[in-house]
Amino acid sequence: MDKNDKFLWGVATSAFQLEGSPSSDWAQWDPAMKERPLAANHYKLYRKDLRLLKEIGVNAYRFSVEWSRIEPEDGRWDDKALDHYRHIVDLLGESGIEPMVTLHHFTHPIWFIRNHPWHMETCRDKFLRFVEKIVPEFKNVRYWITFNEPYVLLLGGYLEGCMPPGIKDIKLALKAIENILICHGAAYAILHDNLPDAMVSVAHNMAAISPWHRWNPADKLLSRIATHFYNHSIIDAFMQGILEIRFPFGRVIKIPVPVKNKLDFFGVNYYTRVHMRFNPFKKMGAELRHRDLDGGGLTDMGWEIHPRGLRKVLEYASRLNVPLIITENGIATRDANRKISYLSRHIGAVERCIREGLDIRGYFYWSLMDNYEWIQGFDSRFGLYSVDFDTFERKPTAAASFYSRIIKNSPF
Ligand code: FCB
Repeated sequence: MDKNDKFLWGVATSAFQLEGSPSSDWAQWDPAMKERPLAANHYKLYRKDLRLLKEIGVNAYRFSVEWSRIEPEDGRWDDKALDHYRHIVDLLGESGIEPMVTLHHFTHPIWFIRNHPWHMETCRDKFLRFVEKIVPEFKNVRYWITFNEPYVLLLGGYLEGCMPPGIKDIKLALKAIENILICHGAAYAILHDNLPDAMVSVAHNMAAISPWHRWNPADKLLSRIATHFYNHSIIDAFMQGILEIRFPFGRVIKIPVPVKNKLDFFGVNYYTRVHMRFNPFKKMGAELRHRDLDGGGLTDMGWEIHPRGLRKVLEYASRLNVPLIITENGIATRDANRKISYLSRHIGAVERCIREGLDIRGYFYWSLMDNYEWIQGFDSRFGLYSVDFDTFERKPTAAASFYSRIIKNSPF
């Protein structure tokens, strides 16, 4: 990535959240998806939706390919589905918009999650066969995300059990993250074999994490452990080739993972700050809460709005010594003014970081339009465009034109 490359001003989406997929684990997992299997009906309306990108004036678009559409049964490829995603890349090319493709964004084919979930060694061959299939078909794509938020998948899928495969088991969780990182390393090699100029990363969800009570040593200790685990351990693994997980009372687990320096940039997804407090009645004594400390209210997800935290997480990520890209940042609200204020405060924080010397090369707002929001279903309105999920009508919010103006007037 060259210093002179244009700054990427984009929006981010994921396939399943916009279009559903009948062969995906989440289609069965969540009753809300049974009621609205088409989500925003983007699979059909994608041409129209891609025109919205031009309307906003972004020069980059992050989206994902839905594995369960492309390989609905183990080893059976649906070429039409592959053509569909290739067409998206072509249309972006015609509009001069840089694509960023996510290979894995939480969802899986049902056959995969049933028979080869991430804690089983067989997951690797299955996932990498998919990567081998996809990459040669997308020669014009330079920016790639292998895994979106591996730790969210881990927490949701293997510790809380609120996401497929719905497991609650620390040992299996560690096996799963090891396999995921092995797959990242191998996918990195496949991408570079096929596309020497590829820019590859994960999109890592980072949160600002503070103690619930600053005077309470237990809360402080917990927030330090959580910050190390949730924010830092994967970054350290990319620098050292070892994933180090620290537990309370000094216990440490070290897992060798083949990802050292296997990054061309680093994708950061940032939304909020959380507070940690010691609570002996909770799992591992840890309770996590959002507090409205600055008085700006919580978002519709119940998340604190805390732009200062973005700088903190970017500063830590900058030790990787690769360009940083904010691959997601956004707010769920039906109030366009709050959306505008969130955007303006977070982009302000990004601009300050750049002026102070952090190597930040892009910002992607989550999301282009309202979509299916996993655990929250269809009520969380992250979109620059609002969507009526009955008629599939899209309408611009005032935040869309605000973001356009920011992009037009950007000094970067
Ligand atoms: C992130 C996910 C994305 C979206 C936003 C709100 O954690 O990557 O799919 O749900 O949160």
